[in-house]
Amino acid sequence: MTERRESIHGSWSGRLAFVLAATGSAVGLGNIWKFPYIAGENGGGAFVLVYLACIAVIGIPIMMAEVMLGRRGRQSPINTMRSLAKEAGASPAWRWLGWAGVLAGFLILSYYSVIAGWALAYVFRAAAGTFTGATAEGIASIFEQLTGDPERLLAWHTLFMVMTMIVVARGVRGGLEQAVRWLVPALFVLLIMLDGYALASGAFDQGLEFLFTPDFSRISANGVLIAMGHAFFTLSLGMGAIMVYGSYLPERASIARSSITIALLDTLVALLAGMAIFPIVFANGLEPGSGAGLIFQTLPIAFGHMPGGALFGTLFFLLLVFAAWTSAISLIEPAVAWLVENKGMTRVCASVYAGIATWGFGLLSIFSFNAWADFKPLSFIPIFENYTIFKLLDYLTANIMLPLGGLFIALFSAWVMKRSDSVQELDMGDGAGYVVWHLLVCYVTPVAVLVVFLNVTGIVNFARLFGLGE
Ligand code: PHE
Repeated sequence: MTERRESIHGSWSGRLAFVLAATGSAVGLGNIWKFPYIAGENGGGAFVLVYLACIAVIGIPIMMAEVMLGRRGRQSPINTMRSLAKEAGASPAWRWLGWAGVLAGFLILSYYSVIAGWALAYVFRAAAGTFTGATAEGIASIFEQLTGDPERLLAWHTLFMVMTMIVVARGVRGGLEQAVRWLVPALFVLLIMLDGYALASGAFDQGLEFLFTPDFSRISANGVLIAMGHAFFTLSLGMGAIMVYGSYLPERASIARSSITIALLDTLVALLAGMAIFPIVFANGLEPGSGAGLIFQTLPIAFGHMPGGALFGTLFFLLLVFAAWTSAISLIEPAVAWLVENKGMTRVCASVYAGIATWGFGLLSIFSFNAWADFKPLSFIPIFENYTIFKLLDYLTANIMLPLGGLFIALFSAWVMKRSDSVQELDMGDGAGYVVWHLLVCYVTPVAVLVVFLNVTGIVNFARLFGLGE
């Protein structure tokens, strides 16, 4: 099959453009907003270690699998799965994997855009000098004022969705490729500067110790699931974003090298962010486990006290918006590509439809921070006792839908696709590199995902099974 080796949507100008775009997708709110706060909520060091292990043994192999499937199928994930299943003589039901990804992307973007809206609001607050000289309490109240006001959140969320729709409507090369080219390096520079500030804050050691000294008594089975889910989330895996980007990848580009580069850059950004944030948390007597507002309540303290803080603060939140923007695009791209392929829509029309639907669903998350802050739909399940709709959406997508999507992607590439086809598509021969990849997607990934799931649901208690403590 796939004699047509070019996607109808166009393609990247080369391997570098793909790496940049995929890095743009991977590096986002997940690294800078989410990673620090979930590491804080789940005890720090042990969580970070599990997360790093998941990136290495689950994330990288699945990223390779996703890129490979995308490049071979050359269509939206739904149609790619359909045609690859046909090529392998398997059931057309595999296309549901594509659908599940579209749904996950839709749900994620609906709340992602709300948080990106916070970052947008903070660009203006920083520029206006609102943080200058402010105390930790002052900054906390700025945050509460923003999130407590549904109208403001709606305005920022709307602006962010419009920005996303505009870039998606313009297509693969226009805009997107250009944006990431300077964004990722600039983000690095700013994070390193913030690390410099954190180093001088007086609690750098405490911050590092919290992040890098694993204490396994502080992580629960659910914490392990959250760490694994985050490995998928932060690398944009399990929902077709990387698959659809892979479908625009030129023929002769090394999938393994690209995937490893993307994963390393992504991890570095997360660690740099964590190293900037936790020293500030400890130096100011804040709570590492304080939740989704963590970076919005810590970094402004740094900006409020460093020389040139208004400028750097503005730049930082601007970069955060850009990072979120390049991720948002990839969240909606699988749906848009499908609408173009199957419904004959133009990209503009497809982006508008997909964007409006996502925007509307975003209202649920907006109200989770104010009007419905006390509405905990699943409070009868112990771990979800305090979960608002926003938190449930995040949990369901990152910790359940993405790992399940990744599991099936691994199963398909390892067990359904012909070995000769994956050898050909990965294009690294069938030596040691290929064998390691194959072993990982064949056994390690599926077993790891299942073990974590079964353990959390309490169906099997592996700790007890192996005679370990709780
Ligand atoms: N990886 C992005 C981030 O870390 C989020 C994302 C998830 C993007 C899934 C695409 C698909 O912010």
